[in-house]
Amino acid sequence: MIPPKPPAREGRTSFWRYLRLFRKDILSAQPARLYRAWMAEFRTPFFRSYLCNDPTLVRLVLSDRPGDFPKSDRVREGLAPLLGNSVFVTNGEVWTRQRRLIDPAFEGGRLRDTFPAMLAAGEAAVERMPEGDVEVEEQMSHLTADIIFRTLFSIPIEHRTAAEVFRLFREHQRTQPILNLGALLPLPAWLPRLHRRTTVATAARIRQLITELTQERAALIAEGRAPDDLATKIMTARDPVDGNGFDTAEMVDQVAIFFLAGHETSASALSWALLMLALHPEVQERVAAESVALGETPGFSAVAGLRYTRDVFREVLRLYPPVPMMVRETTRPERFRDRDVPVRSQVVLSPWHLHRHERLWDDPDSFDPDRWQDAARKAPAREAYIPFSAGPRVCTGAGFAMLEGVLMLALLVRAFRFAPGLGPLPTPVAHLTVRSRDGMVLRVLRRGDSTPK
Ligand code: HEM
Repeated sequence: MIPPKPPAREGRTSFWRYLRLFRKDILSAQPARLYRAWMAEFRTPFFRSYLCNDPTLVRLVLSDRPGDFPKSDRVREGLAPLLGNSVFVTNGEVWTRQRRLIDPAFEGGRLRDTFPAMLAAGEAAVERMPEGDVEVEEQMSHLTADIIFRTLFSIPIEHRTAAEVFRLFREHQRTQPILNLGALLPLPAWLPRLHRRTTVATAARIRQLITELTQERAALIAEGRAPDDLATKIMTARDPVDGNGFDTAEMVDQVAIFFLAGHETSASALSWALLMLALHPEVQERVAAESVALGETPGFSAVAGLRYTRDVFREVLRLYPPVPMMVRETTRPERFRDRDVPVRSQVVLSPWHLHRHERLWDDPDSFDPDRWQDAARKAPAREAYIPFSAGPRVCTGAGFAMLEGVLMLALLVRAFRFAPGLGPLPTPVAHLTVRSRDGMVLRVLRRGDSTPK
């Protein structure tokens, strides 16, 4: 049993009604047929939009010809107050150079270096976790923000600046809740982006604090006293092509996106994972049994052995992909499934629909981690599983997030038993990431205890 999909609308709707639905929740604004269709064309008064579920089209856009399908200026402008020119929004040569400087810090071998900081954050979360009825989305946001600060800057979330950045990010999200997805709004590019004054003010304050952290780090690097964390790795990286690294302003843009892309997404995935475990106690007990292998002092390689926990996390990313939709733009006339697609059309790729597509997946709406050990049942993953996107623009933090997700689940389930809360099942809605409409309260009981305190 899992929460029902968000209610989808049937049939056609007027543009203005669509806009209203969209502003409430992007998932329920979509028509039900997207769980079966290979492609859907939306004609808005301003441009055309194509949602592509056909794996050939997904591959074309993300992997075969990504240069012809850049992120649109709307995405960049929408996010500019907070993210400036970060790697998430740039295109072309600027983006390529940014990835050259960032990617090495996240490579497999170097992930090992971030492990102790990640583990310390997980252990702190186990210490902090209350018992009884617990709002787990809040706990998971706190945990993943802690992980980002510890791995990037070697400071815990209790650090004054880290705590303030975390608080301001939450405020920022309240004023601009559908950050990335704002680009999907079916409005024309020429309509000026109106940034609310509060949004601009919190973004400026966040950037000022991140600037301070970055400048302090630059000073430590100059003195040869910097810890070997992600910030140091990225700030000391030199581009093999031009020989230069990031200056402070460029680094501030990147830190802002690491924080934003790296903590909300993981918090979303971990919250849905805990709900799935609460609803499937037999799965939870298998994760608990496997977590024993972590031992007293968990090591990096022990996480690789948590095969079942990894399958659980994969299955959660299939059913609740934290980034439910991505958007690109055509730069030349295209032909998709025998239809002419004009220049400057919007191309939408939807992990949400692709991962639950009825013509691709066996029993798409059931939570079944064992499918990942069954060659036939996991086969659609090759072409229809993109929680981290795909191709050259794939999520920089994919390896980091998989390590984090598996380790955190194992640590939490080793210490606690999670059971459903008393209220109705959470309803998924898409804000910045896929969240529960009314929060997510679970019953948390320390293993070994018989009653919640
Ligand atoms: C479960 C956790 C995560 C999920 C599901 C996820 C998913 C994604 C997706 C789908 C994209 C592509 C978005 C698009 O093309 O519009 C993306 C991009 C990105 N992610 Fe993640 N992400 C996760 C965690 C992280 C972490 C931990 C970090 C960094 C510490 C990170 C950093 C980034 C960056 C920098 C980009 C932009 C890459 C580019 O455009 O070149 N993400 N992520």
